[in-house]
Amino acid sequence: MSKIRVAVVGCGSISKHRHIPEYAVNPHVELVAFVDPVLERAEGYAAQHGGKAYADYKQMLSEVKPDAVSVCTPNYLHAQVSIDAANAGAHVLVEKPMATTDEEAAAMIEAARNNGVYLMVGHNQRYMPPHQKAKEILESGRLGKVLTFRTSFGHAGPEGWSIDKRESWFFRKPEAIMGAMGDLGVHKSDLIRWLLSDEVAEVASFIGTLHKEGTDVDDNAACVLRMKSGAIGTLVASWTQYKGGDNSTVLWCENGVMYIGTDPDDQVIVELRNGTVEKYKVGAMATNEKQTFSGVIDAFVESIVTKTPPLITGEEGRRSLNVILAAFESQSTGRSIKLN
Ligand SMILES: NC(=O)c1ccc[n+]([C@@H]2O[C@H](COP(=O)([O-])OP(=O)(O)OC[C@H]3O[C@@H](n4cnc5c(N)ncnc54)[C@H](O)[C@@H]3O)[C@@H](O)[C@H]2O)c1
Repeated sequence: MSKIRVAVVGCGSISKHRHIPEYAVNPHVELVAFVDPVLERAEGYAAQHGGKAYADYKQMLSEVKPDAVSVCTPNYLHAQVSIDAANAGAHVLVEKPMATTDEEAAAMIEAARNNGVYLMVGHNQRYMPPHQKAKEILESGRLGKVLTFRTSFGHAGPEGWSIDKRESWFFRKPEAIMGAMGDLGVHKSDLIRWLLSDEVAEVASFIGTLHKEGTDVDDNAACVLRMKSGAIGTLVASWTQYKGGDNSTVLWCENGVMYIGTDPDDQVIVELRNGTVEKYKVGAMATNEKQTFSGVIDAFVESIVTKTPPLITGEEGRRSLNVILAAFESQSTGRSIKLN
């Protein structure tokens, strides 16, 4: 079988740490193009991996005609680049949040459908070993139903991550649209939907810009969620956890509790009401400082190779996005918001 010809649009940090190295070692992939308006970023990868460098993704799509595209741009471009790539006949792996509005997400899904290509969203939290283990335990049924939960994602902010540091698009509202909620909150809305095999029915939230200077995007959010099953829990996103960053989830269930990512040595701990304690060393959660293979890129490639729709479809990404959009609506209206 000939290799899948992949182009990467946006050559910043997520491309550097995950997309490009994971494609580079995938035996089914040939990296054929890199795109970034800061051309030397694209040129650096083309020199390293072969393929061509472009400043303009539209030119790349028409000249290179890639089989698949990773969309790793600032948030406001996700929808347009994904739609143009799908219309050019390419499968699309788009970073989270998949879009900035529900209308954009719907248009992306439709473009993929109309062109017969896959659209996958890079919700890599699902592939982290502690979360895979947690899902397996929940599906075994020994904890019973999840009754309440908390899920939280916080770090010191994108100035320590983005290729442009403090000058990053992450802090410019027209390009980011959302701050910590789009960066971190959407990871957790996706995780909790997937872990619980449930949908969010209602959201109430407080969202603010508490400490980052010179920006009006949110740097902190605390939300209360009611799931369709009736489970109630909290979701927290923060860019101001300068010490003690958090990427953890606790699920209190009928038969006990599961701690995920609360202990550095035992990443998943189950304590049952009958006194049994189970501890699992399954490998750490990825952090900005310590990158591990995301699994997302391999899953995307596998779905193309095996002609099987990806697990994290556009519809999945859209539902996870809509939780965050509802949280913003709650903040602006002072009411809780019901989701369909
Ligand atoms: N899945 C994850 O865990 C995760 C982690 C971090 C970031 N992300 C997502 O990845 C995306 C990119 O974030 P990042 O951290 O790499 O940001 P970054 O600031 O490090 O890099 C963004 C890059 O996009 C380039 N760019 C801007 N306009 C462009 C255009 N028109 N065409 C092509 N490239 C363009 C910029 O020049 C820059 O090089 C964001 O949507 C972010 O939410 C996901």
